Amino acid sequence: MSSDSTNRPIEHIAIIMDGNGRWAKKRALPRNMGHKKGAEVVKEICKAVEKAGIKYLTLYAFSTENWKRSKEEVSALMDLLRQYLASDLKELQEKGVRIRFIGERQMLDADIVESMNKLEAETLQNQKMTLCIALSYGSRQEIVSAAQKVSELVKRGDIAPKDIDENLFSAMLYTHDMPDPDILIRTSGEQRISNYLLWQLAYTEFFFTETLWPDFSEKELIKIIEDYQKRERRYGAIKA
Ligand code: IPE
Ligand code: IPE
Ligand code: MG
Repeated sequence: MSSDSTNRPIEHIAIIMDGNGRWAKKRALPRNMGHKKGAEVVKEICKAVEKAGIKYLTLYAFSTENWKRSKEEVSALMDLLRQYLASDLKELQEKGVRIRFIGERQMLDADIVESMNKLEAETLQNQKMTLCIALSYGSRQEIVSAAQKVSELVKRGDIAPKDIDENLFSAMLYTHDMPDPDILIRTSGEQRISNYLLWQLAYTEFFFTETLWPDFSEKELIKIIEDYQKRERRYGAIKA
């Protein structure tokens, strides 16, 4: 693969939107207010990504591990999600954005799953860009369920074990119809992956910023895109 370092096209940005709680705490506000502000930033960043001509944006909104948070916080997050599905995501739908979700749907309430399915079906043909929201998502679980699907194919005799390759395995992941991310951004200063897109991030460039998610802006996104253009991706090869 070539590693031309000028103006490489970016197809996909993935973000771990972290720091909502700390943003609220700094202002002596309840954590939910941080989530609320964070949800507003989602819309701004989605528009900025579209404006930059990038086709895929994947946002980590709620992890499988986040179910361990207090009942109050989880239910506040779910209510915020309900509102978001009905308002902001509707607006993005009207702007021609395709919306899809990755994660364990069976953990979510039925009315939420219904709205998610509806948005996905209604935006399937939208071409402008794809906004992918990771909800109740855990990458190890995603990989385990891909392994289960592959095992079923072998058991049915559709394929032999030697037919299992990276392409086949990728096709079994939630992200099967998306390119791997070029850029991963994590806000709030934490430098870990927290069970996000473990397979898909194999050769992604990582950017960690101290900014808390509710303070993240288009300006900072553009700066990261510019920094990315300066990096050299080698994919294991040596620069010619
Ligand atoms: C990210 O912000 C949003 C979710 C995980 C739902 P946090 O809620 O993790 O905020 P901090 O890390 O406590 O500041
Ligand atoms: C990762 O953030 C998940 C989301 C941003 C949705 P967390 O705040 O849950 O991750 P940890 O607990 O710091 O690893
Ligand atoms: Mg956090």
